[in-house]
Formats: sequence, structure tokens, C-alpha cells
Amino acid sequence: MKSYDSTKRLRNEKRQEASIDRNEKMKIMSTVIEDIIARKVFNSRGEETVEVDIITSSGFGRVSAPAGKSRGKAEVTYYPQGGVEQAVKRVEELVAPEIVGLNADSQEEIDKTLREIDGSKDFRTIGGNTAFAISLANAEAAANSSGLLLFQYLGGQIANELPYPLGNTISGGKHAEGKSPDIQEFLVLSHGAETFLEASTANIQVHRKIGETLTKKDKLFGEGRSDEGAWVANIGNEEAFNVLTMACEEVGNELGFDCGLGIDVASSSLWNAKTKTYNYQRENKKRNSGEQLDFILELIKNYHLAYVEDPFHEEDFRGFAELTKKTKNCLITGDDLFTTNNERLSRGIKLHAGNAIIIKVNQVGTLSNALETIEMAKRNGYTPVVSHRSGDTCDWHIAHLAIGFKCPIIKTGVVEGSRIAKINELIRIEEFLGDRARMADLKML
Ligand code: PGA
Ligand code: ZN
Repeated sequence: MKSYDSTKRLRNEKRQEASIDRNEKMKIMSTVIEDIIARKVFNSRGEETVEVDIITSSGFGRVSAPAGKSRGKAEVTYYPQGGVEQAVKRVEELVAPEIVGLNADSQEEIDKTLREIDGSKDFRTIGGNTAFAISLANAEAAANSSGLLLFQYLGGQIANELPYPLGNTISGGKHAEGKSPDIQEFLVLSHGAETFLEASTANIQVHRKIGETLTKKDKLFGEGRSDEGAWVANIGNEEAFNVLTMACEEVGNELGFDCGLGIDVASSSLWNAKTKTYNYQRENKKRNSGEQLDFILELIKNYHLAYVEDPFHEEDFRGFAELTKKTKNCLITGDDLFTTNNERLSRGIKLHAGNAIIIKVNQVGTLSNALETIEMAKRNGYTPVVSHRSGDTCDWHIAHLAIGFKCPIIKTGVVEGSRIAKINELIRIEEFLGDRARMADLKML
């Protein structure tokens, strides 16, 4: 039998070993930032964009920034003068000395530091897209260093809700130009699906059916697609609605669940501030604010729209409020209106303008800012919709944001590489979650 002393000694030795082990593990699991590297890459439009790597002693995050074409006026500035090259330089000269040595686990501190380094309200010194890539790469590095997937790191171990995919099927407006509909996007939202895989399959079938219909209708239809992979066709708004309605009905009947319709009017692109009218070029029609309201109300009624984005220009909070009051069971979503900015959202909340908000992190620059806006939206009954940009990369991180931040819809095109990158990541996560996977609770539908 061992003496009391020797037992105690043994226990102490074990404790010491355990503590060395723990220290070793802590060292291995360190989230302290060791390096940050920025480089110039390209987006799906072939435009230059910025990509950032954040390296800790035990992990790594890499994020590239997207770019919009129909941008809101209140968005941050993407790059400093001198473009991406200047942004890369500023990361080396201004950001790296301040960020290296900080803990990636403190997202708020990192984001605050980025704001301090920049010193401007719209990120014009380092660039809003640079801030976006650093902020998100930092979260990914922290997750990776802790042995977690990004959505688990952001949403905790209980995060298990998949968003419904909302995707563009026919392009118009600024995204297509020429002889296409005046409305920028004709969208499908398969909100009746029971799994993410089912929902994205339905969206793809709707997109395919539309392509087949357009081929039959128009001998000159060349199967052209826009940046977001949606069809570009020589049709007007009404024809686009009819083709989309038919495809949604047919696919819905085949699969046995509802495939809803939506639009992004992107009204700021139609608005003429001088004449105070929305100019529908293809239709050869001008609508004043009252006529625009009637027009949108009619569309919602006639086509049973489940989703309407930017039905009024970006300063018309009252138009949004009027429409929201007059509709039921339809998401009235602000994109250019809110630009993911919590001050603009708070103005909208006071006026009851809209009931949903597009979340594009690069409209505000940092993850912390976007999260503040998401939380404010949820507290006030607004549905947050995490979204891609028309110029994007195969970066899939927004898929994780949708789950981690519990946003019930992800807007990311139906086909095309950059969109499919996000869709496929969600399919992987759904598989990873197995029995625990659930579709999000999508209110109002
Ligand atoms: P974007 O617009 O071209 O600015 O990405 C897409 C949208 O309006 O939703
Ligand atoms: Zn939009």
C-alpha cells in the first residue's frame, strides 16, 4: 500500500502533467493573430477585388470580397483611391502592425480596431471591401483555430437552421440593360420545401423550365445569362411574370410544395429625381410615387408575390411604409433603402417601412456592424435576408452567416459558380447536421 505522501506526490505530478498538457493545448489552440496577408484577385465579372488571409498559430481564415452593380448611395466606399492595389498596401502598412498580436476571438475588438485605423465613416482609407475581407477572415480564423465550423462559432453548438434559398431566374434593369424587363430581378423562393436540398433543387428546376420556355417562345433567345446566372431575354415585365408563374406552378405541382415568386425592383435605378417619376423604359411608361404604389400592389395581388425588394427608391421610407401597411403575407424588403446600416434601419422601424432587410456585410464593412443590424431587425420583427452581390467570388462564407446569425433566407442566385459555391456549402452543412438539421422558421408565408 502506498503511503499518503507518495500518493500525494503522484497526484501532484499528474496535476503538473495535466497543466503542461493544458498549456500545450492552449498554445496549439491559440487564436492570437500571427499574420495577415492581402492580395489582389478577381470576381465573377473579372473585376479586381481583395482577398485576405488571417493566420493564427493554429488556424487560418481566407475571404474575398464581392462587389455590387446597383449599389445603394449609403454603402461604404469599397476601396481607397488607387483601388485594390492601394488597399493591399494599406493592409501591409496600416492594418498589419495593429492587428498582428490581437486575439481573433475578439471580433468586436478587431472590428473596432479596423474603424480606428481607418478613421473615416465610410471606410475610405482602407476600403470597405478590405474591412469586409479582414473582418470575415478573422471570424473564420477564430473558428478554425478553435476546431469549429464558422456557423458553429457564430451561432453556437445549437445552430441548426438552414435558410431558404432565394434566387434570380430572369434578369432586367441594370443587371441586363438592353431589351430586357425593367424590373431588375425575377426571383424564386421555394418556401414550401422541407429541406435545403429540396428547396435548391426546386429553384434549379424553375430556372431550367424558364430557359426551356424562353427557347420555345423566341428563336433568337441565345440562352444568355447575367452575372447572377439568371436568363437575359427580350421580354417585358408582364411576360417575365407569366413565364415565372408557370414555371413555379409546374415545379410546385411536380414536387408537391410551394415555390413562391419574388422580385427585386431596384427602384433607385428607375427613379428620376428631376421628374419625380419611376421610368420604365421598355414599357415606355413613367409612374409617379402614387402610381408606383398602385402598380406594386397590383403585382403582389396578381402574381401572389411572397417577396418584393426595393419597390421604391432609396430615400422613400414613406413609400415603403405605405406599401407595408397595405400588404399581408409578403416580405417588403429594403436593400438600397437600408444598406445594412442600423441607423437607416432604425429610421425605417420608426416609420414601419418594410418588414425585411437585405444583409450585405460589405455595405457596412464589418461583421460586428452587420450583426448589430441583424439583431435590431429581429428585435423589431424584420426578416433578415443574407445576400450575395452581383459580382461575387466562389467564397462561401455567407452560407455560414445565414445559419450562424439565424437569417431565414439567403439570396444567392440559382446557378453560376459563385452562387453554387454558397448553395453547395449549405448542402454540405445540412448533411453534416444530419437529424438535427431544420429549415428556418420563415414567418409571414
Ligand atoms: P448588386 O445588386 O448589383 O448591388 O449586388 C443586387 C441587388 O440589388 O440585390
Ligand atoms: Zn436589391
